[in-house]
Amino acid sequence: MQQIKEKLLQALEAAKASKSAESLEKIRIDFLGRKGSITTLAKNADFSKMSVEEKKGFGQRLNELKTFASEQIKAASEALEATVVRHKSNDLDLTAPGKGRRLGALHPITLAQMELEDIFQGMGFSVLYGPEVESEHYCFESVNIPHDHPARDMQDTFWLKNQLILRTHTSANQVRTLERFGAPIRAIFPGRCFRYESIDPSHENTFYQCEGLVVDKDISVANLIAVMKTILSQVFRRDVRVRLRPGYFPFVEPGFELDLNCLFCGGKGCPTCGDGWIELIPCGLVHPQVLRFGGVDPREYSGFAFGVGLTRLAMMKYGIRDIRYLNCGDLRVNEQFSVLM
Ligand code: DAH
Repeated sequence: MQQIKEKLLQALEAAKASKSAESLEKIRIDFLGRKGSITTLAKNADFSKMSVEEKKGFGQRLNELKTFASEQIKAASEALEATVVRHKSNDLDLTAPGKGRRLGALHPITLAQMELEDIFQGMGFSVLYGPEVESEHYCFESVNIPHDHPARDMQDTFWLKNQLILRTHTSANQVRTLERFGAPIRAIFPGRCFRYESIDPSHENTFYQCEGLVVDKDISVANLIAVMKTILSQVFRRDVRVRLRPGYFPFVEPGFELDLNCLFCGGKGCPTCGDGWIELIPCGLVHPQVLRFGGVDPREYSGFAFGVGLTRLAMMKYGIRDIRYLNCGDLRVNEQFSVLM
């Protein structure tokens, strides 16, 4: 028994030095477990050869040894736990600068898109998203831009295999939508567009537009102006003035450039606008040929369409002067918008 006691103390010393909870558990099993040395000692004792007195003494000593062993192991494991806790609390330096949690933020274009979607939905428009990889048919032919039409030169296009392209404008969704839902329809199609452009502060090969299409009975230019004015007043949170100038786009007739009375100078003329007006939204009445392509009878229905430059709108709304910030992937651009979510 004395031997066992000494072995136990030795093992405990070693466990304390290694500071491992597992080695303490191993000691418990080695001495007090089912096959541990103390348990085995009791099992193997030949009581038949002992007198009553001897039996009593043996039992007593054995119990003392068991109690001793479990108390020693318990004490060692408490001591170990205390050092671990002390270690942890020593690591806590209340004067160290905190590890700030970085808040995510939405991209300014996403914010502008979400806001436009909200406003249009409030006016009963559906929000639809078409494919970025398009066919020539939907991107050009169906919006009245045939193969030999000079308008094809206006848009330098990324061509993919199988005659597919990256859509150059969201107008590609006009006929898709008419085919699918027919008339009457009120919808916007926000999304990414691509042109093979060289990049400078106001041109990108990847940018966002938000197309709009309304087709119903007796739709006129008056409806177009009213909707545009309402939308822009909500986007810029004030009453705005707009004007229409003639503009040419093959898929509208008549076609217009809608200008916004400059919000910075109130129309007097300033470095941002030049003459008091900012060219903002190309638009017009849907060309009868486009309606026909979509399976809608132009004698029965008319409509208007517009293409908001979403990237441009976001730049104006948030005062971003260089378009290249928007796709550069620098988180410092986004981080500034975290409060706006
Ligand atoms: N798709 C034209 C572009 O990308 C913009 C546009 C002009 C859209 C007139 C329209 C429109 O819906 O009526 O340049």
